[in-house]
Amino acid sequence: MKKVGILSLGRYLPVQVLTNQDIEKIVDTSDEWIVSRTGIKERRISADGEKTSDMAIAAAKDALKNSVIKAEDIEAIFVATVTPDSNFPSVACLVQRAIGAKKAFAYDIGAACSGFLYALTTAKQFISSGMVQNAMVIASDRFTSIIDWKNRNTCVLFGDGAGAAVLGPVQDGGMLADYMISNGEGSDLMGVMADKVRSPFNSSIETAKLPFVTMNGQELFKHAVPGMAEALALAVKKAGLALDDIKCVVPHQANDRIIASVAKRAGIDKERFFINIDKYGNISAASVVVALCEAVEVGRIKKGDKIALVVFGAGLVAAANIIEWSY
Ligand code: ACO
Repeated sequence: MKKVGILSLGRYLPVQVLTNQDIEKIVDTSDEWIVSRTGIKERRISADGEKTSDMAIAAAKDALKNSVIKAEDIEAIFVATVTPDSNFPSVACLVQRAIGAKKAFAYDIGAACSGFLYALTTAKQFISSGMVQNAMVIASDRFTSIIDWKNRNTCVLFGDGAGAAVLGPVQDGGMLADYMISNGEGSDLMGVMADKVRSPFNSSIETAKLPFVTMNGQELFKHAVPGMAEALALAVKKAGLALDDIKCVVPHQANDRIIASVAKRAGIDKERFFINIDKYGNISAASVVVALCEAVEVGRIKKGDKIALVVFGAGLVAAANIIEWSY
């Protein structure tokens, strides 16, 4: 089996910033409540007409800028998203067309906030088995399009954005261990339950639910903390490492209090977690890759460092990856 690593990263965040003060004008909330309960100060909002695929394409191009692998040589494209432009075609095929990756096969992966790591591990398996030489892994989500902007329980939490990684074989290090786990028993805790209202053959009003994100925040919080702490511990163990070997943990950015609780439960100083939730809120699948990209850019992650990525999302879905950084 070949060793596989991340060769380059890219990201795209929409220009428009929506601050907590802006949201105070829309719903009954306050900057103080949002910051103290979540750590979020502002988030990005996609421009009028800007779609999930537009953000995915911009992130892909950013990752290709720094990549030794050119678009025409990419052999697989995976896009993690739960907010595709439409049910089909896939966002991945739209990216393929836009970047001219004619050799690639392309499809989307839906695993909510864990989508990027689910796609990363999928891509790694394709490369290490020898089926493809390289892959582009993208996460792009536009949650502001599925949020009820009259509901303060959810509208303060999310933003839009995308991140991308080019994966290929590496001599040393790379992706050391992967862990993924799902718990469908918790499927009702969060989702967008829209499809049933669209069928003329379904007369049951009771089955029709609002086509916005519904979320049981407190219950999700209770699952997210042990879910992430356990995924992290198991992935570190699988890599044959100790928690002290991990230089930086890049977590899904859903809530600063979740990250603090995970750090405490896992027994890792919170200082070793990279956190940027204050700037972007929860950008679903894109959160962890945007954070990873920024952590590398500001020098929190350097060549040879062993790092952990850990995520949790609706489904319920959790994952962690241990990586020895390659550049
Ligand atoms: N502004 C002011 N007050 C608010 C707001 C708001 N924006 N939202 C809720 N409140 C009120 C509530 O109405 C409630 O008032 P009450 O006590 O009078 O009833 C009070 O604040 C407390 O509400 P809680 O829901 O108990 O607040 P909590 O501390 O649990 O924080 C939050 C809510 C931020 C949603 C938290 O539960 C959370 O982060 N949950 C996890 C979210 C998550 O991880 N989602 C999954 C990942 S996302 C994905 O998969 C795509």
